[in-house]
Order: sequence, then structure tokens, then C-alpha cells
Amino acid sequence: MSDIRTLGEFIVEKQTDFPHASGELSSLLGSIKLAAKIVNREINKAGLVDITGSVGGENIQGEDQQKLDVYANDKFKAALEARDQVCGVASEEEDEAVAFNKELNRNSKYVVLMDPLDGSSNIDVNVSVGTIFSIYQRVSPVGTPPTQEDFLQPGNRQVAAGYIIYGSSTMLVYTTGNGMHGFTYDPSLGVFCLSHENMRIPEDGRIYSINEGNYIRFPMGVKKYIKHCQEDVPEDNRPYTSRYIGSLVADFHRNLLKGGIYMYPSTATHPNGKLRLLYECNPMAFLIEQAGGIASDGKTRIMDLKPTELHQRVPFFVGSTNMVRKVEAFLEEYPEQQ
Ligand code: AHG
Ligand code: MN
Ligand code: MN
Repeated sequence: MSDIRTLGEFIVEKQTDFPHASGELSSLLGSIKLAAKIVNREINKAGLVDITGSVGGENIQGEDQQKLDVYANDKFKAALEARDQVCGVASEEEDEAVAFNKELNRNSKYVVLMDPLDGSSNIDVNVSVGTIFSIYQRVSPVGTPPTQEDFLQPGNRQVAAGYIIYGSSTMLVYTTGNGMHGFTYDPSLGVFCLSHENMRIPEDGRIYSINEGNYIRFPMGVKKYIKHCQEDVPEDNRPYTSRYIGSLVADFHRNLLKGGIYMYPSTATHPNGKLRLLYECNPMAFLIEQAGGIASDGKTRIMDLKPTELHQRVPFFVGSTNMVRKVEAFLEEYPEQQ
């Protein structure tokens, strides 16, 4: 019992390590923790109550909005607004960034960008889903409403990022720039307990994760890399294993623990891939670098890209360093689009 370290205790203990040491950031992470518990409770009931299925609307990107997408968006927004540490949020489920109007919120210095429910096509089939978040200090003056510039900062300016995976157990994983730490939820106690301190991804892995159904539309470099993964070269541990859940959070989490690469490249029909830079790729890039891996768009470090739009998409390669470097090398060698 005395060995249990809760997320709340850990955050306070590590507070002085934050590059932006402040009780405010601790409190902000506390609101994310609270919303995660509420969403977790609802997800666990998903098969029992009439909450799955479409609400009939579409978000700005023309995707079906699932009820749990909307629910998670509302809960995270409400939790972030209530604690007064955040002046605004941008979300996959909101067309525009949302400014919190209370004076206390306006006087706060952080903005949050989030994918409240990642992998939503997996909700109905009892497969892991997640939440992804990314935190920045605003660049606009405190006391005023947040501006577009606050949300369009490059990933290398993140002060914290993390995800929650609602899986066979629920975990919250985060970084404030001093390593990546994971906490497993104990539903009987209602607390996240430190289970994975200072997570590290192996430099080499043997799992590759990609929606291979799109193979014909991939750039030549990615096709060549997939064939490389499948070659029979026992001294190099090849052929690798293919694993694809279709929830970025879950695929990322597995590859992080075991060593591997997740890829969502550009395709002939989606020249920028599918994943969103600000609330999917940047937070995952920050986390993976803290764990010793890398994240790239095939050429450039994800966190060095300068965002131009809230819902901007970008090709994404993330995971074990040597695997990401290898696919980058293939993309350089075979620059053809298909
Ligand atoms: P979201 O549910 O937030 O829209 O994200 C889904 C993303 C990501 O989680 C997943 O890896 C990818 O879409 C799967 O896309 P495909 O079905 O095209 O493989
Ligand atoms: Mn997503
Ligand atoms: Mn989503």
C-alpha cells in the first residue's frame, strides 16, 4: 500500500521539475485526470446503455460524430473551464477554437488542444480508444481572449502532452518534458497509480503498424519500406510483425512498450495523410521523443513544423528511432508519389 504513488501525488512531487514550474499546470493536469475518469466510466458502459452510434451530425471534416465523441468533448471542455487554468481549447470536434470567457479563465496562461475521443470507429466493437491532449503557454497577453496564434504554435513549444488509453485497463500517460510516465487506473480506488515511470521505447523494433488496405495509394518509399519489413532476414529479426488496431493511441502505446513504428503516410487521395498535426501528431511526437523515439512527416521532425490551420493534416511516422530513420531513407531514395 505504501508503495502506491498516485498521479496527483506524482504531479505535485515533480512540479519543481517542470520547465514551467507552477501549481497551475498541476491543477490543469488534475482537470484532465478528472475528465478522463468520467469518460472512462461512460466508455465502460458503452455496451450497456444507448450511447454508441451516430448522433446524426458531422464535424467540420465531414466525419460522422459519434455520441461518445461529443460526450468526451463536452466533459473535457467543462473540466478545463471549471478549474480556471485554461483560457481556451481547440478540439477535433470543434470547428473553431473555443475561448473561455470567465475573467479567471481569461487571466490564465494555458491553451489545450485535444482529440477527445481517438479511434471512435472502434467504440461500437469494444476495442481500445483514447484521448490525446497537448498544452501550450499562450503567446497573446494574459487578460485578453486567446487568439489563433496561441493555437498555431509549433509542437516544440508544448509544455505538456499526454494521452489516456481506455483499454483492457485504463492508463494516463503524460510528459512535461522530463520523461514520459504512465499511470494505470484502479477503478476500485478511483485513482491513477504510477505503473510505468520513465517509459523508454526500444531503438529497434519489429512491429509495423499501417493500414495496408491503402497500399496501392502509398508513396513508393513507403511501399518499399513495407516490403523491407516483410523480407525474410532472420539475422535482422525480419520479417517483422504487422499489428494495426486503428486507434492511434492504442497502436502507439503497444509500439512504445514493445518497439515498433506507426505510419499514416500521404496517399494518392489524401496528400497530407489523415492524422491531425495539432492534436494527434504533435502530442504523440513530444511523448515519443521523451521516451527516446522520434516522429517525422517522412522528412521533417514533426515538432518543427509550423502549423497554419487548426485541423491541418500531416503524414505521420512515429516510433523506434531506427525504424523511422529507415522509412525516411526509403522515402528519400524513392521520391515518387506512387
Ligand atoms: P479519430 O477517431 O479521432 O478520428 O482518429 C482516428 C484515426 C486514428 O486513431 C487511427 O489510427 C486512424 O484514424 C485510422 O484510420 P484508418 O481507418 O484510415 O486506418
Ligand atoms: Mn484521432
Ligand atoms: Mn477523435
